[in-house]
Amino acid sequence: MTGGWYAALVALQFVLAAATLVALRWIVAPYGRHARGGWGPTIPARVGWIVMEAPASVLFIVFFLLGDHRGQPVPIVLLALWQLHYVNRAFVTPLLTRSSARMPVLVAALAITFNTLNAWINARWVSQLGDYPLHWLADPRFVVGVVVMLAGLAINVHSDAVLRALRREHDGYAVPRRGAFRWISSPNYAGEIVEWCGWALLTWSPAGLAFAVYTIANLAPRAIANHRWYRETFPDYPPERRALIPGLL
Ligand SMILES: NC(=O)c1ccc[n+]([C@@H]2O[C@H](COP(=O)([O-])OP(=O)(O)OC[C@H]3O[C@@H](n4cnc5c(N)ncnc54)[C@H](OP(=O)(O)O)[C@@H]3O)[C@@H](O)[C@H]2O)c1
Repeated sequence: MTGGWYAALVALQFVLAAATLVALRWIVAPYGRHARGGWGPTIPARVGWIVMEAPASVLFIVFFLLGDHRGQPVPIVLLALWQLHYVNRAFVTPLLTRSSARMPVLVAALAITFNTLNAWINARWVSQLGDYPLHWLADPRFVVGVVVMLAGLAINVHSDAVLRALRREHDGYAVPRRGAFRWISSPNYAGEIVEWCGWALLTWSPAGLAFAVYTIANLAPRAIANHRWYRETFPDYPPERRALIPGLL
């Protein structure tokens, strides 16, 4: 694939981010608490999450191995950071979930398409098009980016664990009160956004930036929809709690 094609795919991801942001103003993705009929056949959400997120892990490895820099230390560190997130998302979290929800096949199919594109542009950059000499590990962009990414990962994983514990204590949905839920309704999304901003910084790449922008476009509207749902569903929902950014949004 030529550099022109690669640039076009990265540009496509920015276009997808804009289209997603616009679409989510009117449509809330029909899974989880926002699940509803009319979106075609469904599958168990647990299966859906594995099938749709596995390509982000597995295909990233495949695409990474196609690159000339696959044996270099820094690209291998970047591969490990990516897998730290996606092994948890694709294989650990779905197996731990206590939800018996279903999701439309359409949602899983769209996510597979996105994850394939995203894995390609990011893995291709890391192991072929980018240039990461050993001293990149001491570059402030890498150091700060790693701290940001790992902080986001910790918030994301902890918040998802809080929700799982809540499911053990209650049948169905309840108001989460632990961890970062004290300040915002969707700290798992906030953590995810912080994570990919960290990735954009530590890779200093157009692909990383495209993924961070897409994540914001995808998760910020859903966080707002979740917040509205909490307020409508639970009359005693803490009034000071915000949707996504403590004290602000
Ligand atoms: N990078 C991206 O663009 C992207 C996109 C989507 C998701 N994600 C990530 O994927 C993960 C899961 O996303 P999600 O949209 O499914 O998150 P979510 O709506 O917060 O749900 C996460 C899990 O917790 C359960 N749950 C949620 N709120 C609950 C409550 N108040 N009481 C009891 N159980 C509750 C859900 O059950 P139900 O399934 O029954 O609702 C689900 O099993 C998150 O970490 C998110 O950041 C990333």
